[in-house]
Amino acid sequence: MWNVATSGVAIASAWAIHQFFKFVSWKSVMRKIPGPPPFFPIGNIHQMDPENSFDDYVKLSFVYGEMFVFWFFSRPIIVISDPALIREVIQNKDVWHRKFFFEVDDEVIGKVLFAIDGPSWKERRTRLNSSFRSQNVNSLFPTIRERAVKATSILIENSKKGKQTEIDNFMVGATMDIIFQFLVGKTFDIISGKKDFLKDYMNAVSIEVMLRNVGLKYLPIPSRIKFFTSSMKTHSFLKKVIRDRAKELQDEPTSVSDSILDMLLTHPSRLSDQEIADDLLGLMIAGHDTTSHTMAWAVYEVGRKKDVLAKLKEEVDAVIPGIPSVDNILSIDSLDQINKLTYLTAVIKETLRIWPPAGSSPLTATQDTTLAGHSLPKDTVVMCATYTIQRSPMHWKNPLTFNPDRFLETSSNYQLADAVSNFGEQSVKEQVYMPFLIGRHACIGQHLAMLELKVMLATLFKNLDITVHNEVKPLLGITLKPKEVLVSVKLRE
Ligand code: HEM
Repeated sequence: MWNVATSGVAIASAWAIHQFFKFVSWKSVMRKIPGPPPFFPIGNIHQMDPENSFDDYVKLSFVYGEMFVFWFFSRPIIVISDPALIREVIQNKDVWHRKFFFEVDDEVIGKVLFAIDGPSWKERRTRLNSSFRSQNVNSLFPTIRERAVKATSILIENSKKGKQTEIDNFMVGATMDIIFQFLVGKTFDIISGKKDFLKDYMNAVSIEVMLRNVGLKYLPIPSRIKFFTSSMKTHSFLKKVIRDRAKELQDEPTSVSDSILDMLLTHPSRLSDQEIADDLLGLMIAGHDTTSHTMAWAVYEVGRKKDVLAKLKEEVDAVIPGIPSVDNILSIDSLDQINKLTYLTAVIKETLRIWPPAGSSPLTATQDTTLAGHSLPKDTVVMCATYTIQRSPMHWKNPLTFNPDRFLETSSNYQLADAVSNFGEQSVKEQVYMPFLIGRHACIGQHLAMLELKVMLATLFKNLDITVHNEVKPLLGITLKPKEVLVSVKLRE
């Protein structure tokens, strides 16, 4: 017994000494970069809001500028919100590589597209690009429309029963259904409560990411059990879908469809089942979470702004004629109609400005390098803080005000502040607005996301008067989401 205790203390001491030396050596490297003083062994963790570290970066940027260092235990992270510096880092593909959050590795989600870089990332991204061409994505329009109508009906049913609906979690079901149609050519009716383990998995991944982000990788708590069980179920579900479809295609090769799974299974250099499962899982995670949170944030923001709501209703009424009823939920009928939704597009863009779900991107140096005149060793981490840029008073007038007008394409309404003079109006959007990121890792699914957002929100606001019942706080898990948005609805008259 005594021996076990002594070995434990010896291992802990060796670990602490190792961490201390790491801290001291990083500290000498970072000494010229401003930032809050770190404390060994926690760094600046005590100054971090565990529910929304994006806001900490904003606050610290007011004090320390557009490049500062923040300590995650004994590891420094250089947080940059200077648009030119972000561009420089992103474009330097030989040095700066995409890794997932540095404490979240293969154990949590596997080798998904947004967690890898280098030749293997390039090969997999190139393979997927063709499926994301607009013609292929547009073929999902009937599914998106049908899910939007279904979502509207369920919301009405819930309200008739006197139930409030938590719109963020509800939208997760809708966007998962759409992404599965895209991935494997079927929906699983998750919005109606089927295959709940997939939603459980997403919630558990979010909690796991949150815990690891504050260094609690080994804490034995019940959420871990939920994470491992739902993760096992999700992986075996995906493997079975892959096996079944491979068998169907073997029996009937002409049944090949436009789904991503069929494309991957019939590709001349076919990946292993595990690699295909990784691709499907990555696309499932990246493809529904971000979009559902944006839907929920938009409902929340529009619900709080009567003038925005009035303009939005005026536009959807002009584009989608008719009076809705329970048996006749109205929606977009053609892709042409979508192009007429100018104000809704501005609402979505403004939602993505103020609440970008993926508002920071970490990159790691694969070799010694320099940045803004500082020499940095291999393994330095920089965080491209796009959330900070999109909320910066240096670039946006009244940055914390939700004002879709700033995205209407008339220069008098294009309410950017200094950014216009700094970058010129043409390029300003690219420089200080990057909810889908820029460069080689920019979101592969942005066209799909915008299509889903437009059809879903147009359908909701055409048919429903929506009441939001609570003040909402953000919560950063795998992406930034609204913690809880409770709504009830009434059919519009
Ligand atoms: C409003 C919705 C969405 C937003 C705001 C969003 C945002 C982003 C951002 C910022 C990145 C870069 C992340 C980084 O490298 O740090 C990204 C990457 C990615 N997104 Fe999206 N996304 C959305 C919807 C989608 C959809 C619908 C899909 C499709 C299935 C998708 C698939 C991906 C994938 C696969 C990547 C990784 C790309 C790569 O590394 O090559 N996203 N997204």
